[in-house]
Amino acid sequence: MPAKCQISGEDLHLNDLAAIPFFRAAQDALTNAPRHATAMQVAVTLSADDHDCHLRIHDDGVGLPKEWKLRPDAFGLRGVLERIAQLGGNLFIKGKPGDGVTIAAKVPLSRITVPG
Ligand SMILES: Nc1ncnc2c1ncn2[C@@H]1O[C@H](COP(=O)(O)OP(=O)(O)O)[C@@H](O)[C@H]1O
Ligand SMILES: [Mg+2]
Repeated sequence: MPAKCQISGEDLHLNDLAAIPFFRAAQDALTNAPRHATAMQVAVTLSADDHDCHLRIHDDGVGLPKEWKLRPDAFGLRGVLERIAQLGGNLFIKGKPGDGVTIAAKVPLSRITVPG
């Protein structure tokens, strides 16, 4: 399955706190895409605005059912959500039926950048 990776903001100096949560988010989303989505393509984007760092993983697969919720017995995305929350961030999980899934983490830069 082709994966496209786009990283903008080369001058972004993330500290060690960001490494594992971001790695886990990408790892889980990239595992979910072939496992659950029947996706043809997945795109990973890392970018930043004035306040936040954004990690987004989007696939073009089957999407999520209308009433989808994180199941208590599925620890993949729940684990990702908890790690991002520990950094003061939010995890958004979006996907309509037939419209692919987007996992978007938004984390305050103040928590995860090397000062100076
Ligand atoms: N990219 C995706 N496309 C379609 N469904 C997904 C996708 N990612 C997750 N899901 C649905 O959400 C559920 C929870 O995902 P996750 O927390 O990663 O648990 P697991 O992968 O262990 O089932 C999956 O079982 C699947 O039903
Ligand atoms: Mg999973």
